[in-house]
Amino acid sequence: MNKDIEKILVTEDELAKITKKLGEQITKDYAGKKLLIVGVLKGSIYFFTDLSRHIDLPCTIDFMQASSYGESTVSSGEIKIIKDIQDDLTGFDVLLVEDILDTGRTLKYICDMLSKRNPQSIAVITLLDKPSRRVADISADYVGVDVPNEFVVGYGLDYNQFYRNLPYIGVLKGEIYNN
Ligand code: IMP
Ligand code: MG
Repeated sequence: MNKDIEKILVTEDELAKITKKLGEQITKDYAGKKLLIVGVLKGSIYFFTDLSRHIDLPCTIDFMQASSYGESTVSSGEIKIIKDIQDDLTGFDVLLVEDILDTGRTLKYICDMLSKRNPQSIAVITLLDKPSRRVADISADYVGVDVPNEFVVGYGLDYNQFYRNLPYIGVLKGEIYNN
């Protein structure tokens, strides 16, 4: 285990089971639809690639990027779109893929923005959910696993852009970001 990690919350094995189960569920729910899977960069990439390989349907993929935490562990509440997808979503069933739903401000902003582009539907799938932290009026349609109110990294999630490549989800030692 990485020396900066206090404990592992979700193991590699558990991540593999979660992504498989969610992919199979999406396969059932989106049969016959015009599925567009949209990953929210950068945090969702590991989840996105594992999940999408378990979706046994014709689909297209794209990515969006919103402004992130910067160097803090507390969201500023200010959202900025850095990379956008196509303007016209007519007929598309959009599935937004997130790493973690925290205050919900990022996803709420993105959902409101995309709803104005005439999609057939918009749904949210998040690997991790911190329901106790929710501020914005949004919930995920699909959740991998709920996590307690602790700062987690790995499998795409970062602190100050590091730790994304850990193969598990772990709690970062407080001394790393309290310094
Ligand atoms: P929200 O807008 O507060 O829901 O923030 C969502 C984004 O904040 C996520 O997509 C993550 O990039 C980041 N975030 C929230 N909680 C954590 C955490 O515990 N570890 C790492 N990143 C986090
Ligand atoms: Mg993110």
